[in-house]
Amino acid sequence: MQRNIWTRFIGISFLLAGALAILYSRPVLADSRWGANYFPNIELTTQDGKTVHFYDDLIKGKMVAIDLIYTTCQYSCPLETARLAQVQKMLGDRVGKDIFFYSITIDPKNDTPAVLKAYAEKFHAGPGWTFLTGKKEDIDFLSKKLGLYSDPKLSQDGHTPHLLLGNEPMGQWMRNSALDNPRFLSQMIGDFLDSFRNMKPAQGKENTESAAIHLDPGQYLFTKKCGACHTVGQGDKIGPDLVGVTDTRNRDWLMRKIQHPEQLLAERDPITMALAEKYGNVNMPNLRVSDDDANYMIGYLVSRTSELQRQAQAQNAVTKPAGGAGGMARPNQ
Ligand code: HEC
Repeated sequence: MQRNIWTRFIGISFLLAGALAILYSRPVLADSRWGANYFPNIELTTQDGKTVHFYDDLIKGKMVAIDLIYTTCQYSCPLETARLAQVQKMLGDRVGKDIFFYSITIDPKNDTPAVLKAYAEKFHAGPGWTFLTGKKEDIDFLSKKLGLYSDPKLSQDGHTPHLLLGNEPMGQWMRNSALDNPRFLSQMIGDFLDSFRNMKPAQGKENTESAAIHLDPGQYLFTKKCGACHTVGQGDKIGPDLVGVTDTRNRDWLMRKIQHPEQLLAERDPITMALAEKYGNVNMPNLRVSDDDANYMIGYLVSRTSELQRQAQAQNAVTKPAGGAGGMARPNQ
């Protein structure tokens, strides 16, 4: 058991190092998360010849993974598509149910629906994965909006092999390298799906602020390094749920626990001994976390905890009779 976790974990960390590019930027629109008025509702055609609208039909209310391809591409696209096909296999029937894959061609002149259909078949793309074509200028505009556009003159490929993961109702968007190791990608997508599963869609302006904040570096690091064993607010995994841990432990101890857990164990630190007993003597591994990274992750634990506390409070305000809400939950406007 322990070995498996380790093998998996080490695999993930190695293959991953530095592979993600994260979108820090806030949406440009002042009073809106990335919603209907951010995404162009352009008309596209599927590999089966069906006409769809980007916002209304493809992403509204959904979790999605989007990449740009073209079928004659010699460089990264075939690899990218093959990797996604593996990710789809690993995610199984969640694709088409929990998450939808879209590969949009940037070479619509050549990539007709029939060409895309043959391409999809070549890679055994299953249900829930749609290949799309459309008007060149619409697609260019869309790829700029999605942050996937790259100047054809700059890269040999004419596009960036990025995979954009999005949760439209929550307004959360994240960009990965589509060339990442498939096991990592599927784990990342799985975690991404799970971490939003229990959240409510953002409503009104009050929630818009927090919904619009993209994954921060702390969250990224945490998912990558710690997510195999810990959650924040979703229960114990191999290690304890870390919600509220920044309130119950002091910062110095947390830094040591994250950076040098083996020292605490060697010193027979009482908290660690109690935890080790409770968690079946699986010990927290030393993951060679730098000071900066540890600080980012603690920052994430703090902000995620208070976000969950705010949500719980807002929930209370809704279920309790009027008057008890304090200033926390303002009505939607
Ligand atoms: C291989 C699984 C594993 C990984 C990976 C892992 N942990 Fe742990 N962690 C545990 C276990 C098991 C415990 C409880 C036993 C112990 O303390 O050694 C624990 C305990 C902790 C605690 C103490 C919890 C408390 O209640 O005081 C913190 C904080 C923590 N981990 C943070 C992290 C962070 C941050 C990362 C990522 C850098 C991480 N862990 C990665 C397994 C893991």
